[in-house]
Amino acid sequence: MFSYFDYLECSACLRRYPPTAVCNLCACGEPLLARYRLAAAAAAVDRDGLQGQSLWRYHALLPVQNPESVVSLGEGMTPLLHARRLGARLGLDFLYIKDESQNPTGSFKARGLAVAIARAAELGIRQVAIPSAGNAGGAAAAYAARAGLEAHVVMPRDVPRAFLVECQYYGAHVELVDGLITDAGQRVAEGCARHGWFELSTLKEPYRVEGKKTMGYELAEQLGWELPEVIVYPTGGGTGLIGMWKSFEEMEALGWIASRRPRMVAVQAAGCAPIVRAFEQGTPRAAPWEHAATIAAGLRVPQAVGDALMLKALRDSQGTAVAVSEAEIRRGVFLLGREEGLFASPEGGAALAGLQRLVAAGWLDRRARVVLFNTGSGFKYLDVLAQADPAALA
Ligand SMILES: Cc1ncc(COP(=O)(O)O)c(C=O)c1O
Repeated sequence: MFSYFDYLECSACLRRYPPTAVCNLCACGEPLLARYRLAAAAAAVDRDGLQGQSLWRYHALLPVQNPESVVSLGEGMTPLLHARRLGARLGLDFLYIKDESQNPTGSFKARGLAVAIARAAELGIRQVAIPSAGNAGGAAAAYAARAGLEAHVVMPRDVPRAFLVECQYYGAHVELVDGLITDAGQRVAEGCARHGWFELSTLKEPYRVEGKKTMGYELAEQLGWELPEVIVYPTGGGTGLIGMWKSFEEMEALGWIASRRPRMVAVQAAGCAPIVRAFEQGTPRAAPWEHAATIAAGLRVPQAVGDALMLKALRDSQGTAVAVSEAEIRRGVFLLGREEGLFASPEGGAALAGLQRLVAAGWLDRRARVVLFNTGSGFKYLDVLAQADPAALA
């Protein structure tokens, strides 16, 4: 059996939809999640016999039904690097970096969009549309090109230039808006209503999160089917966080891992930290952030559809949420470069800055296994990163 995908289930009201339905949100307005026949998968799939070098090695736990529908540029199975120099600097013996910049299109967005585009094409969709802070747009355009779909990407006018140029070279229709990703989202919704495009916005489409969850499967596999004690993740729309949390539940049901979970840490920029604020205030949902601003474009998400799911994962895991300044973000990028040879995105720099704060606050044990996510490549942000002199960040 190629896939054990069974049905879609609303994350809030639990209403079910058949696997063949073309869906965005549930009728109640909340995100849908893919559910699998896990008992049957557990009996048939041997975790030690997984085949292939991309995220499609987990195809049994992905929604694409037919092997012929897979759309791949080689995404996933990114390195998990033991960061000894950075760890020594921070006073952590087991610091690892999951380097997602090595994905096709230079970010972890490749995972979600590979699966979402493959599934869209499988369901007969021909035109897709996405609002993006940059990386998701590039990935959507690339996978749409590979699948032969038409892509419409709407981004804020001030996104780093590489994102615009990249999308154009993938042959996508690109529109720039004066505003934020939420404004881009409105343009996409209008375009979908008017032209019948299929909307791929974060969590308004159920399969991107399935691609993202493979980060959790890989982590477990790369650590010998154990999970780390702490995961530090730069959080915008939150699909990575939500996806990994979902993967842990699935892997436990499959009998692939034990019940212990990592503490999940969401790092946001101080200039746009709705999840951190809601976490600190103890509310189940996050109010929209006014005047969102940060160089970490992927973290400039003033309001997320998945806020409730993110907050629940942070709390259920005994995790936390941290906001970091722009100066800390730039310095984080520099430290990842100087200490470990990684040219990280500002979002990766933010994750490191968040971890430094937690270490300073004594939140972590020196011997804890900590996985830090560098979600994207610094090469996409050359115009932004060149604004600072790295020597001055030392
Ligand atoms: C490099 C990078 N890191 C992190 C994020 C935030 O990702 P998520 O939506 O999974 O929270 C984004 C989103 O655009 C991004 O591009």
